[in-house]
Amino acid sequence: MALAEPSIAVRPAEEADIPELLVLTKDYLDEQQDFGGDVLPTPRTIDYYRTLFAGVIGKTIMGAAVALSWNGSLVGFHLTVELPMPWDSMFGRAALGFGTFVDPAFRGRGFGVALREVANDLLREAGFETVIGLVHTGNQPGEQSLERCDWKWVGRMGYKRLVS
Ligand SMILES: CC(C)(COP(=O)(O)OP(=O)(O)OC[C@H]1O[C@@H](n2cnc3c(N)ncnc32)[C@H](O)[C@@H]1OP(=O)(O)O)[C@@H](O)C(=O)NCCC(=O)NCCS
Repeated sequence: MALAEPSIAVRPAEEADIPELLVLTKDYLDEQQDFGGDVLPTPRTIDYYRTLFAGVIGKTIMGAAVALSWNGSLVGFHLTVELPMPWDSMFGRAALGFGTFVDPAFRGRGFGVALREVANDLLREAGFETVIGLVHTGNQPGEQSLERCDWKWVGRMGYKRLVS
């Protein structure tokens, strides 16, 4: 019997993907903590991501949710959500990045860039003019993959703890 060829695809996320997307979100948030990411992968955070994924997929929230699927399982995602801007901005209508993740076994093969490019096309079609995102200091792969997508840098983000 001939074996089926493994298939890999970058495609818009679907409602049935949400449980797997949330598992990948947890991996994503865990990894961001290595670079000082402040978002904790708690049940509350994961529930918030569930709301974002469900809203974007169901189009009650504007944005783009894209999945990387391999042989029927998800091995990556990219999520951007509309950033409400009740002020005048040179960015125009903008979406904010909530995560780009590629399973370590699939990295370095262009899937990070492909996820961003598919999402950017969806955003453009939906009338977005700009995508905005944050990369943590020291996240060289994250920085490199954004630059590969012609990213422009403005300023730095920082913090000071007011309590110990
Ligand atoms: C960032 C991430 C999504 C990149 O995914 P990927 O599929 O490996 O990236 P790509 O293969 O599309 O590569 C994109 C660019 O990044 C570079 N890159 C990939 N891995 C790299 C690494 N470990 N160090 C330096 N550059 C790297 C590639 O060389 C490529 O640039 P080039 O085309 O100029 O050579 C992936 O590393 C990841 O999931 N990291 C954990 C989550 C994360 O940090 N997300 C990004 C937040 S901004």
